Amino acid sequence: MIDFFGRMVSQPLPIHLLVGGYLLIFVSVVHLAYMGLVLGSSLLALVFDFYEFTSPDRRWRKFARYLAELPLRSFWASVLLGLVPVLTAIALYQQILFPADPGPQWPPLPHQLTTKMMSVGLVLLVPGLLLLYFYKWSFKVRRTHFLTHFLSGLAGNGLALLAYLFIISGMALALDPERWPYLSQYWQSTYDMRAWIMYSFSQISRFLTFQVSAMAITGAAILWDFYRSDWKIEDDAGYVSLVRNFGAGLALANVMALPVMMYWNLITLQYINMSVQLYNLFLIGLLILLVVSIWLFKTITNPQRKGSVWPLLGLLVFLVVYNVGEAMARDQALLDYNNVLNAAAQTKLQTLQTANASATGGAGQEKPGGAQAGQQLYTDKGCSACHSVDGSRRIGPSWKGLYGHTVTVLANGKPETVTADDAYIKESILQPGAQVVQGFPNVMPAQQLSDAEITALIDYIKTLK
Ligand code: HEC
Repeated sequence: MIDFFGRMVSQPLPIHLLVGGYLLIFVSVVHLAYMGLVLGSSLLALVFDFYEFTSPDRRWRKFARYLAELPLRSFWASVLLGLVPVLTAIALYQQILFPADPGPQWPPLPHQLTTKMMSVGLVLLVPGLLLLYFYKWSFKVRRTHFLTHFLSGLAGNGLALLAYLFIISGMALALDPERWPYLSQYWQSTYDMRAWIMYSFSQISRFLTFQVSAMAITGAAILWDFYRSDWKIEDDAGYVSLVRNFGAGLALANVMALPVMMYWNLITLQYINMSVQLYNLFLIGLLILLVVSIWLFKTITNPQRKGSVWPLLGLLVFLVVYNVGEAMARDQALLDYNNVLNAAAQTKLQTLQTANASATGGAGQEKPGGAQAGQQLYTDKGCSACHSVDGSRRIGPSWKGLYGHTVTVLANGKPETVTADDAYIKESILQPGAQVVQGFPNVMPAQQLSDAEITALIDYIKTLK
């Protein structure tokens, strides 16, 4: 069966792991919204800061300072919303969701990678946030120490962005099991270039989705802050309208860009992009975005209109619906995909068995078509997605010349040499994780094949000299 994160497992997840999984989604949704604000506003602060330096106008400086301070008013809020959730995620992955050793295929490699990537992210995030705090503080001494001030902000923003490249990649690994073999192959430096490019595209789309939502959230937060505090006491009417229009424009432009990124993300997922549920979910997402956009547009075009916290809340609701719904729809998509494959294989096998039975005069029961049936199973059961028969490398090793040759495998992490005979191949199909071929990721799904089907596959592999 398929578990919470879309992986093949032999038993259903215990309840505390399920709760842990949902907690993780909740933590990441709240955290990502906050960090989006930090990244978006500090980046814009840098832009206006630099702009004022080259063409002095106190309005720009004031705005830059306002943007730098917007998410960093409370130090403890940043620790609570920025650092604690990443730590929680790491702890959940490592300890609760994936305890030390509950079975031979556990913890799966992607989650070890996720933990590693998130830890790297955290190591980058801590100095990044500290530098951003320094940047915010140094507006006081900006006139005399512009370079120190500006560079600290630039470095802080850069480090935090880099941290999120790792953190988002780590999350994508956990959420999109389809993608991570590419990445692990990349790390082993023996990857297939096409696979890596495909991976990169979907990876980049995820990261850009994050950045675009970061900007949209920043825009909405500027508006929220603007309406919440009494900006009317401000005597500079030009500045007041700058803040208001800039906030609304930023949120609007980025809210519009979000669907493009989301579809890009979906399209680059090989199996999951067939899911009707996911497209439906995205339609709901689009509707929410439409409502937010109309609201923002009205705000910009009608200066008399009173604002409220709704655009920000709308965006947050959207993020929650989108993330939780997507995780569930994705599980379903993988399940559906597996069911379709199994059904197709069953039909094909029956046809072959009937054909075989008539060819051999009714004695087809114990001989399911031999190598020929094996060849059919190779395509019908999806083995061909990962195994070639001509010696070229895919996600898994090629079957060419496999039979009778020696293979180096990792059994419980230790390398061993085995001969690829009937027993070895049978075990590799039924329990792929027990002996993992060296240099390949442990991603092969356990197969539900009958003995006859396995014999047919082995017969076929024997012919691939
Ligand atoms: C998602 C990709 C994927 C699919 C689908 C897949 N495999 Fe694999 N397979 C792998 C990987 C990766 C390995 C190497 C790691 C390991 O041994 O688990 C492997 C290893 C094997 C081995 C051992 C090969 C060797 O060189 O020692 C056999 C046999 C095998 N698979 C059979 C099958 C059969 C039969 C099917 C279809 C019913 C199948 N696989 C479907 C990825 C896949």
